[in-house]
Amino acid sequence: MPLTKEVVLGKHVWERHSCINCHTLHGEGAYFAPELGNVMTRWGVTDDPEAAYEVLTGWMEAQPSGIEGRRQMPQFNLTPEEIRGLAEFLRWADQTDTQGWPPTNAG
Ligand code: HEC
Repeated sequence: MPLTKEVVLGKHVWERHSCINCHTLHGEGAYFAPELGNVMTRWGVTDDPEAAYEVLTGWMEAQPSGIEGRRQMPQFNLTPEEIRGLAEFLRWADQTDTQGWPPTNAG
């Protein structure tokens, strides 16, 4: 997958909102929230930019879930362009050749 301007924008959004303070990406980061290097595979949208954008939009809009007993993710109030960037960044990260790293799906 090419390194497009959407991917680069998504990386900036990722940095600006410190997603890594809770999540891991390819096994590195914090271990409070799910590994995101394989989330597009787990959602079945790795090869479908529109589906990736839609499912991520749905996820971001629904946070925080308020479900008792579940760890909470904040509401970031991102623009559609920012969410598209994040979706592309996560698809790109999902397709980088990590030689099987991390060893488990949970990071
Ligand atoms: C304060 C901690 C925190 C931050 C910061 C955070 N998240 Fe999360 N995120 C969570 C938690 C906790 C969950 C799991 C919630 C659940 O399962 O109900 C989650 C889940 C997710 C999921 C779904 C993962 C899956 O496997 O289903 C995605 C995608 C996601 N976050 C993206 C992001 C992005 C992008 C950012 C930065 C803009 C971000 N998160 C920042 C805590 C955080």
